Order: sequence, then structure tokens, then C-alpha cells
Amino acid sequence: MTIGVVIGESKPTEVTAQSSRPLSVGEYVIIDSQDGRLLGLVERSIITSEALTDIRNFDEAVESKEVAELNSRDKNYKVKIGILGFLEKLQKGQVVLPAVPPLPGTSILEATQKDLGMIFGPSGKEWIRIGALLRNKEIEAKVNINKIVSRHFAILAMTGMGKSNLVSLVAKDVASLNGTLVIFDYHNDYENLDISKMNYMMVKINPRLLPADKLAEVIELRENADKQQRVLRESFTDQVKQAKDFWSALEENVSSFGHTTKGYADSASRVLDKIDDAKHRFSDILDPDCGDPVDLIKEGRVNVLNIAELSERQANAGLAYYLQELLQQRKESVWEKKGKSSNRNNRLVAPVFIIIEEAHVFIPKGEHTDTKYWASKVAREGRKFGIGLGVVSQRPRNIDPNVLSQMGSLAIMKIVQDDDQQQIASAAESLSKDLLSQLSSLNIGDAILIGQWVNLPAIVHIDEVKSKKTGSDLDAVKEWSQTDKFKDIAKESTQGLLQKDLLLD
Ligand SMILES: Nc1ncnc2c1ncn2[C@@H]1O[C@H](COP(=O)(O)OP(=O)(O)OP(=O)(O)O)[C@@H](O)[C@H]1O
Ligand SMILES: [Mg+2]
Repeated sequence: MTIGVVIGESKPTEVTAQSSRPLSVGEYVIIDSQDGRLLGLVERSIITSEALTDIRNFDEAVESKEVAELNSRDKNYKVKIGILGFLEKLQKGQVVLPAVPPLPGTSILEATQKDLGMIFGPSGKEWIRIGALLRNKEIEAKVNINKIVSRHFAILAMTGMGKSNLVSLVAKDVASLNGTLVIFDYHNDYENLDISKMNYMMVKINPRLLPADKLAEVIELRENADKQQRVLRESFTDQVKQAKDFWSALEENVSSFGHTTKGYADSASRVLDKIDDAKHRFSDILDPDCGDPVDLIKEGRVNVLNIAELSERQANAGLAYYLQELLQQRKESVWEKKGKSSNRNNRLVAPVFIIIEEAHVFIPKGEHTDTKYWASKVAREGRKFGIGLGVVSQRPRNIDPNVLSQMGSLAIMKIVQDDDQQQIASAAESLSKDLLSQLSSLNIGDAILIGQWVNLPAIVHIDEVKSKKTGSDLDAVKEWSQTDKFKDIAKESTQGLLQKDLLLD
């Protein structure tokens, strides 16, 4: 069906058209050009009214409104359409732009399922459904899961816009493909994920396996407490690492270092306090008898690692350790397949995908963290060894730009802050200015998908994962009213107890 006609000046990359109805920004249309059918994306949509232009006062506006309503030709629907390429080529995964611009007078047609299905929802096991096109709702939107494992991805959006929902969706799909996923869960968002192949666990750190400076971090020695750092470094010997009772052996060494080294008695006693404190406060997390915590990760499962209880520094040390180990395991596995020998038993034989929430905390711009070091290594080397990285953040401007630019695919949801948008624009070449300007007008669950996991940039609405709660907003009013109810119950039952006490007396 013809819905518009090309007018004015045309270019091989864009045309202007007059349309018969207002078209939505983000809608796909067909440009029936002289050289073949082209796929176009509505990038700007303007409506004007002849009668309601140059209005000088309110009365004039009211009169003109009536004139406008009577005159069917009053409204003018103008659109700017970006040309994405020849439809037939796009359906084969190739982008070919026309050499000659579409002639003015060319018809603009509605895009049908037949036109768009092969582009946005190709068949093949590696293509998983994540929703539908936002403006052409009947068209399924799929992403290529192979590309995210080999080329990484980022999910960027303001808080509450649906990042964790998309992660849950990806997790379900990876599970259905028997893939291995590791999610570092900072807000306890994924505990209730309704997946049979889930392996949920608290992150553990085995202090025996850490270098001394990392042990100092996890027991929370201050970074600039040089003397305390030295005490720990000197005391954390191989003999301690292998001791049956790790903490006692470490405490013994610290204590004897304090006694035998002049001027270190106070520092040693402070380190002892810190060790004692850490042993009690973090007994669930710091476990010298847990073996190698990475061995708890199971292949073919969605492994959700709860890091909610960890301090930022501990989480950082933990994440870095896991990234380093997983990368190493994958390397050994690949090397072994190539015939090189390896001496490790626990190896991930198939590719693994790792998702880091709150990426701006662990992979920050302008400051060093161990997680950042290992994440950028995974980003650079992962492709060769089958280890993919997914970073999720509500503050793209604070993520390390080098790591962000290595992410081959992006899902970007609503973002209003200018500096966040700029950071994304510089990380993603294929994000045009017009698409960028759409970011502030997206709703919850709407996303722009760009990069290698899609054949073409797509504006989609992501399916909601209903079978679980993903960090939905708290209903404070409801909880308050329940608190009142609990108070009443507590009051009644204490009164009952009091009466019972009296009776007993
Ligand atoms: N695709 C969607 N369709 C409809 N509703 C959605 C969609 N995605 C998310 N929501 C709703 O929005 C709420 C917040 O989603 P989600 O927890 O995924 O956001 P988030 O971006 O991860 O937030 P945060 O920054 O707090 O981690 C969810 O409770 C869910 O009900
Ligand atoms: Mg979230």
C-alpha cells in the first residue's frame, strides 16, 4: 500500500517524503525506487498545519482550529527516511546502498512481514527472539547469540528501564541452548529466575588463592596503611597458604612478625584485629576451605553468583579472580583441543558467557581496578577462546571507554543524560545522530539494538519475563500498611503472653 511519495531533494542515504498519515519514528518502510526496492527507516517525522501556522493570539488560534478541522488538506505529514540498503540484499545479510538517489515521485510503501521477517527474525538456532519491532509490532525481533559470545555486548539504560529483564531473557535462552552463563548478581535480582538449569550460589573467596595485596583488600586493610600492608605481606607465606588451619597460621605469623620486627608491634596488632573482624563479619564469603570457588561453576547452567553481601573492594577482588580463572580455563581447554597438554582437571570445555551488572563500579573510567584489567583482557582475547562478556550499566559515562568500545553489540534503552549519550555515541559508530536523539523518548522495555547481533539497527520492544521479579520498584505504601498490621498482630500476641504470664503467676 502506498503511504507516501518522495519529494524535494534525495540522496543515496536519505530521502524526504510526504506521507498520507503521520509515520512513527523508528518505523520501517519500503522505498520503491527505480533500481529496486529499498528498505528505509523513518528518522524524523514532522506534522504541520497550514491554518495553524503564524498564529498571533488565542482567538485566532481557536478560529484557525475550526478551519483546520474542516479542511482535509490542512495537515502536512513530512518524514525524513534513512536508506538502509536494497531489501533483497539485506535479506541475504548484505548492506548495499543505491548509487543513484531515489527519484522524487517514488512511492513509499508499508513494509510487510514478508519484507522484514528475514532481516529482523531470521531462522536458525543461533537467532533467539527477544521481542518485536517497536513500530512494526507484528515483526519478531531476534538477536544472534553466537555473536554475543564471540564479540561481547553491553546493555545500557537508566535505572528501572529493563536491563535486568533483558539479561533474564538472554539467560533463559542460553539455558534452553544448554549454554554456560555466569551472572554476577549485585542486587539479588536473579535469585528467583525461573529456569530449571540454574545454579545459584553465594560468591566465595578462598583467601589461600589470593596474592597478598588482594588479601589485604578483602580483609579491608587501608590502602595507604603501608606498615600493616607489609605485616600482612611478610606473614602470608606459602606455609600459611598450605596450613590446615589457615587463619590460625596467619595470625601466628602476624603476631610473631610484630614481636620480632622493631616498630611493628602496633601495626601487627591492628592487622590481627582486622583478620579477626573479617573472619567473623565475612565468614560466609571468606572461606579458606572451599577449594577453588571457580570449580563451583557448572557447565550447561545459568550460574548466578550472588555478590550482594560483598563490599565493593571484596566484590572487585572476587570478580577479578573469577574472570582471570575462567579465561585461563578456556585458554587451556582450547589449547588442549589443539593438542597441547595441560595439567588442570577442571576445565570449561565449551564457551562461556559472563555478565557483569553495575559495570561502572567494577570497570570504571579513569581508575584502575583488577576487574577492569581482567575484563579488558577478556574483551580483547575472549573471541579466540570462547569467552564472552556482557556489561550492564545505568551510568555509561562512568564505564571505561576502552572496554565499552570493545563491546560488539549494544542494547540501549532510555537514556536522557547528555554525557551518557555522548559516551555511547563514541563507543558505537553505527548509532546515527537521529537514532541517538530517540533515546530520551523510549519507554520501559524499548531498546535500540545495534552491532553484530542484529542484521540492521533495530528499535524494538523487549518481551517481559513474567515468571520472575526483576528488581521491580518497591511498593512502599503497601509495605507500610503491612508493617502496621504486623505491629497490631505483635501487640495482640504480646498481650496474650502477658495475660498468660499473669494467669501463671
Ligand atoms: N520489556 C519490558 N516490558 C514491560 N515491562 C518491563 C520490561 N522490562 C522491564 N519491565 C518492568 O520494569 C521494571 C524494571 O525492570 P528491570 O529491573 O529489568 O530494570 P533495570 O534497568 O535492570 O533496573 P535497575 O537499574 O534498577 O537495575 C520491572 O519490574 C518490569 O516490570
Ligand atoms: Mg537491574
